[in-house]
Amino acid sequence: MKVLVIGGTSLLGDRIVRRFCEGAEVWYTVNSKEVPIQGAGRIRMDITEPESVEKGFREVNPDIAVLVAAYTEVDACERNRERAISLNIGGAEKVFRACQKNGTKLVYISTDAIFDGTKLEPYTEGDRPNPPNFYARTKLEAEKIVLQSVENLVCRVSTIYGNRSAHHRQNVVMWMIETLAAQKRIELFEDRFCNPTFADEAADVIATIALRGGTGIFHTTGRNCVSRVELGRLVAGVFGLDENLIVPVRSTAYQSVPRGLHSCLSVTKAEQFIGRKIQTVEESLRVLKDQIEEAPFGKNL
Ligand SMILES: NC(=O)c1ccc[n+]([C@@H]2O[C@H](COP(=O)([O-])OP(=O)(O)OC[C@H]3O[C@@H](n4cnc5c(N)ncnc54)[C@H](OP(=O)(O)O)[C@@H]3O)[C@@H](O)[C@H]2O)c1
Repeated sequence: MKVLVIGGTSLLGDRIVRRFCEGAEVWYTVNSKEVPIQGAGRIRMDITEPESVEKGFREVNPDIAVLVAAYTEVDACERNRERAISLNIGGAEKVFRACQKNGTKLVYISTDAIFDGTKLEPYTEGDRPNPPNFYARTKLEAEKIVLQSVENLVCRVSTIYGNRSAHHRQNVVMWMIETLAAQKRIELFEDRFCNPTFADEAADVIATIALRGGTGIFHTTGRNCVSRVELGRLVAGVFGLDENLIVPVRSTAYQSVPRGLHSCLSVTKAEQFIGRKIQTVEESLRVLKDQIEEAPFGKNL
């Protein structure tokens, strides 16, 4: 079994590479950074360039490709729509075509942001998307491209966090830990809810679904839905930090680009498929705490 992870330099990509390395020959792509991951092969690929995508697929000839790479900054996608289209839609289309040509199963990493967040119950895979911003529109278009083949798999995640390395983007939980540990106040939204997604756990769930032949759409976030304030309080509790530094605020005054307020996802379908419960936020935070104690990044907590 050969697996190609496109976007191995992102936190989730890194964890997906490591998870598949447990039983497969794994290759991953880099674009602007050269980041080594032990045990996996590295190739350069720009998904906006058809020759680059085709060359990568010829070189690796994967059974499974996981498309993690995307233009992920929501505000920037609104301003730079051409880049968002080129990377998120054009890139997905090129990878999809290469997979079709090569007989490769494609796993596409998507987002809870495709929902408008007006439903107060968790969204299921059958619910109708209604993207509230341009980033979400491009991700939904990519889902549609990928799902043209019934063999393919779409895994939706939300607010990714984990013990990042220096080359990974900052993530909300590490920022909370670092800020609270420095005894600084943090303003957190009390009115935005989602299922925070621990990269390590999501990688395991996604790889398990893919290796068991899952097709169609699965929600592969963390198990429960929390507001940012609730997430901050859980972080403070697990890491022994001062929750009085958390200042609840409403999101409306802060956001120029529309985002769904209640983009909670049901993970029941994924849990039934993999035959186990997905970790709650608190369980994942405890795993993260152990990881940080073993290999702290930045501050020594
Ligand atoms: N972050 C979240 O909270 C969140 C929430 C929901 C869904 N998602 C989805 O999860 C996935 C990962 O998101 P992330 O925020 O963790 O990603 P990220 O840190 O922004 O990383 C983006 C990745 O895309 C690669 N990339 C960028 N342009 C490329 C190109 N032209 N060709 C090939 N690769 C390119 C980057 O490679 P280089 O670094 O080498 O340039 C990097 O590996 C995305 O599909 C995103 O839509 C993320």
